[in-house]
Amino acid sequence: MEKIFVTRRLPAAGIARLEAADVPFRIGQEDEEAGLPRDALLAGAAGAEVLICQLTETIDREVLELGLRGVCNMAVGFDNVDVATATELGVAVTNTPGVLTETTADFAWALLMAVARRLPEADRYTRDGRWKIWGPNLFLGGDVGPGADGRRKCLGIVGFGRIGAAVARRAQGFEMEVLVYDPRHRERVEAHPGVRWVELAPLLEQSDFVSLHPPLTAETHHLIGAAELARMKPTAYLINTARGPVVDEPALLVALREGRLAGAGLDVFENEPRLTAGLADLDQVVLAPHIASASVATRGRMATLAVDNALALLAGQRAPHTVDPRVYEGPAWGRRLG
Ligand code: GLV
Repeated sequence: MEKIFVTRRLPAAGIARLEAADVPFRIGQEDEEAGLPRDALLAGAAGAEVLICQLTETIDREVLELGLRGVCNMAVGFDNVDVATATELGVAVTNTPGVLTETTADFAWALLMAVARRLPEADRYTRDGRWKIWGPNLFLGGDVGPGADGRRKCLGIVGFGRIGAAVARRAQGFEMEVLVYDPRHRERVEAHPGVRWVELAPLLEQSDFVSLHPPLTAETHHLIGAAELARMKPTAYLINTARGPVVDEPALLVALREGRLAGAGLDVFENEPRLTAGLADLDQVVLAPHIASASVATRGRMATLAVDNALALLAGQRAPHTVDPRVYEGPAWGRRLG
């Protein structure tokens, strides 16, 4: 019987780490494009001690009651896992923080630049052979740096964890003014050089770009809805590399269609991989299939970190990145170790 059930094929570095550890493991879904059916997830989790999973799998009470010792998510986010129930049942949940910070911030910046300068639209136009002559009015976009008007642009960052802070560092190179809203980290934001803490409403009203970086929780679900979008400038852009449900996507579609927002750069969606009907018809959006952390090096590190977490749990040790370390203090964890 395998010790580790891996829901979907990991990047090569993760598989290499598993093979080197010489621990019996099984991969549920080898096909890159197909998700793991729920019954296969349940069967795999029932037959293993530790699960290595992806954000595409819902790890709820039904999975957590199957007798696992640990659930190792290959992601920094863990909204797909019911962590409270896991802690109650003595199942350790781990994630992969730190290693994807810069890569994800790079991608948020890439979306911001691409949507402001209309790069994907221009690429389609050039590629399709529609370009007839250089034009003084061709693909006019928004500036990110001061531009010819000399005005420093304002970037609003919602959520100032590692990734939000890394995006703020990029903004410095573009001489931007940086506003930050994060009620969980107000003191840290106030002590941080080069950024200013503000409430959400003024951030939305003043920013030329709003970049979202909070975790998805009950508090941040639809944090950006119709009322918040209405506060944004019609020349402003919204960037989301956090989680889709942080934004009310149908409300975003309406705001974009009515020209109440200049554009959006989106890597995440409310009902991935489905998009709100009509979103993909808009030229002023740049869409990506949840790939902000997808560099070869970073996905490799995420995979090896998930494996290291799993191996530690199998060895009866605390994992390096446990979401709720209180799990190790509870009687249920002790019972699991026998
Ligand atoms: C990706 O979305 C992650 O949470 O790592």
